[in-house]
Amino acid sequence: YLSGGEMKQWSGDVHTVVSPLGIRTANGLERKVIGSYPLCSAKEAMASLDDALAAYDEGRGEWPTMPVAERIACVEKFTGKMIERKAEVVKLIMWEIGKSYTDSLKEFDRTVEYIHATIDALKDLDRNSSRFEIQQGIIGQIRRSPLGVVLCMGPFNYPLNETFTTLIPALIMGNTLLFKPPKHGTLLHYPLLEAFRTCFPKGVVNTIYGRGNVIVQPLMETGKINVLTLIGSSKVANQLKKMHPKVNRLRAILGLDAKNAAIVTDKADIDLAVKECVLGSLSFNGQRCTAIKIIFVHRRIADSFLSKLSEAVSKLKVGMPWEKDVFLTPLPEPQKPAYLESCIEDAVANGAKVINANGGKAYESLVFPAIVYPVNERMKLYSEEQFGPVIPVLPFDDITTPIEYLIHSEHGQQVSLFTNNAAELASLIDPLVNQVSRVNINCQCQRGPDTFPFTGRKDSAEATLSVPDALRAFSIRSMVATKQ
Ligand code: G3H
Repeated sequence: YLSGGEMKQWSGDVHTVVSPLGIRTANGLERKVIGSYPLCSAKEAMASLDDALAAYDEGRGEWPTMPVAERIACVEKFTGKMIERKAEVVKLIMWEIGKSYTDSLKEFDRTVEYIHATIDALKDLDRNSSRFEIQQGIIGQIRRSPLGVVLCMGPFNYPLNETFTTLIPALIMGNTLLFKPPKHGTLLHYPLLEAFRTCFPKGVVNTIYGRGNVIVQPLMETGKINVLTLIGSSKVANQLKKMHPKVNRLRAILGLDAKNAAIVTDKADIDLAVKECVLGSLSFNGQRCTAIKIIFVHRRIADSFLSKLSEAVSKLKVGMPWEKDVFLTPLPEPQKPAYLESCIEDAVANGAKVINANGGKAYESLVFPAIVYPVNERMKLYSEEQFGPVIPVLPFDDITTPIEYLIHSEHGQQVSLFTNNAAELASLIDPLVNQVSRVNINCQCQRGPDTFPFTGRKDSAEATLSVPDALRAFSIRSMVATKQ
């Protein structure tokens, strides 16, 4: 692992990574070990924190005092080296988390675009921030200053892209980093460690690996983490915040849970709604915070919608990421197939059915997509974020039903609204956008383009992650003032 500008050799316990992918045989999936990573102890985590603190040096370090143009040059150099390792990183995304090869490539390219957009946004921000303002005889030079040590934790579903949409802005604004990659999605960062080591001053980027309760808890308890950035669950985020002894001094930049709904009214183009709901619910096996996780369909068109949805889902190919035209691939979390099965059983016990052939069948890490209908409020699928290839659908007679659902939901990220009626659309925009942070009209929920604001209400987010909001989030607007 990388700490204090050195690649440290590890001789302690390791986590052996078995790929979720494999060759189908009569005895099940033949899977292979693709690597291992250190399970660091609290001692190593604390030493890495000391390295990050030393590099920051209470704001006097080389990195936090470096001119913006030079910091940008370091990030540009890093990006060049990252591109040189593209083939290895993309392959590891595929093998480590089971993402299709095409989507793994997209994840890499999108990350590089995000870094370039961040650099452009910082140049603009710096131009605008470094101006002088004169008011009431005071000349103020406005600037943006770093916050300190950032503990950065990314998710398994976008282990590169989502991690870097916090890591890069945190870094480029002059903070120093402790970076803990996700449990499923650690190996793919290995090819980039040397670039981190050589492109930034020593101690600016430090990696830590291991179990959260062993290494993250003691770090938070020191009170020396200035910024916590996590893309993950709100439960974990709340636990971590509580560990900080002076939580008012901690800035939290969080992308959290979501239960995005699609609302298909009786004035919708059903074919379009089906196409977008399939993409929205099942891209990367539904393992996206932005996925559509529940569909409300008007009862008048429910039969037609469900039969078209079922037909579309039956055409999706389930298999290994390297297979031609594959759409659904193995799930990296070993416990996920059993969890999804329990959600389906619970729904069936409460009166719903799986309406598509093979829906919910599992072949080890491969789970066939299931459409569950009619879902009601007694079922787990009504409120829990399934984060997998299960589509809960429920009928409504009155538009107040889905609106009330959103009002009472713990989440508030996105909604997809399907209607071709201008008056209906106009009447729904405000009630919807006042419940979530993005309303998608006649299209699926999604984050992109990554330069758009990305946030959520209630338990779905804290702060806005995008360019340039993320640059603002990882810095403070400060000023140097003098009298005229
Ligand atoms: O899991 C959340 C990701 O940021 C979603 O990105 O909507 O482009 O798949 P996406």
